[in-house]
Amino acid sequence: MDLSFKILKNEGDLIKMDVEGIKVELKGIVAKSPKMLEAIAWSIVYSATADVICICGESGSGKEILFRVIRQVGNKDNTICVNCGAMTDSLLESELFGHKRGSFTDAVSDRKGAFIEAEDGFLFLDEIGEMSLKGQVKLLRAIEYREIKPVGADTSSFHNAKVVLATNKNLMDMIKENKFRRDLYYRIEGFTILIPPLRERPEDIEALIKFFAGDYKFAKGAIDEMFKHNWPGNVRELKNAIERAKIKSLYGEKIITWGMLGINKQLNYEVMPKMTLEDMEKTVIEDAYVRCDYNISTASKQLGIPRSTLYSKLKKFQLIA
Ligand SMILES: Nc1ncnc2c1ncn2[C@@H]1O[C@H](COP(=O)(O)OP(=O)(O)OP(=O)(O)O)[C@@H](O)[C@H]1O
Ligand SMILES: [Mg+2]
Repeated sequence: MDLSFKILKNEGDLIKMDVEGIKVELKGIVAKSPKMLEAIAWSIVYSATADVICICGESGSGKEILFRVIRQVGNKDNTICVNCGAMTDSLLESELFGHKRGSFTDAVSDRKGAFIEAEDGFLFLDEIGEMSLKGQVKLLRAIEYREIKPVGADTSSFHNAKVVLATNKNLMDMIKENKFRRDLYYRIEGFTILIPPLRERPEDIEALIKFFAGDYKFAKGAIDEMFKHNWPGNVRELKNAIERAKIKSLYGEKIITWGMLGINKQLNYEVMPKMTLEDMEKTVIEDAYVRCDYNISTASKQLGIPRSTLYSKLKKFQLIA
């Protein structure tokens, strides 16, 4: 379906648009690329019309920012957020659907669960790609029939929340791997908003650089290098790089160099095939270490290796003294 929308104003992080007659003023979102503006326009339409919305996009691409747009347009006071990747299956079940007292060891009292707590409001379910197949069956029932059954309860009840799902996974790939249910996918497919990766939105790279830099200037070549970078961490990576650089140049002349951004050593998948395995290992390790703000414990968790292993590798590659 084609969508007709007009941009009434677009400066810095302020966007005023008219989508199918709905006039909206958004603050805190930078978007100049046609793809991102269209994603925002769809969020506005779905927010006004759909009872379930799914936002897909790589990590750091702006899913949460888009949810803010949906919330603003939906104009509901109540919002409940649950990160489906952060807990075990059974915990998530009781978190979402509630439980009856005594239904399991820690269930000392009745719990309503997020669907009911989000009454008349939004329920934001982040990282739904992490949900088990069993959990997905229940989620589909909750979306399709608005029906939920608390753990240990005999009867079902009904919710009236507007459900917004988010994932950084490719759900179609997950279906092929039998990790995501096809029926759930088809239920949400028509209301899915895809945020393209930052590397496919050059107009946004330019606008975001300008916005995050504020009154800081860039040294010769820095902006060109930024355009060459492929931004695997998307807007988050760009934002963090500029904030870091601003701190480094704070006592200088407010000029940011490419080096200050600290991204020249980070992963660039296009050049990786030319590397040796050892080069790649060093790049991956350095990338994680820099991204985790030089915190060895956090980086080792991200890499899935013991802290001591990471420490000895950092030494080997002379990344620490
Ligand atoms: N279009 C944008 N304008 C301004 N800031 C943005 C934009 N997109 C993303 N950001 C900023 O980049 C950071 C990452 O965005 P966000 O949290 O929305 O990403 P995400 O897709 O939810 O990431 P994850 O998958 O890791 O949860 C945030 O600080 C957010 O404010
Ligand atoms: Mg997020």
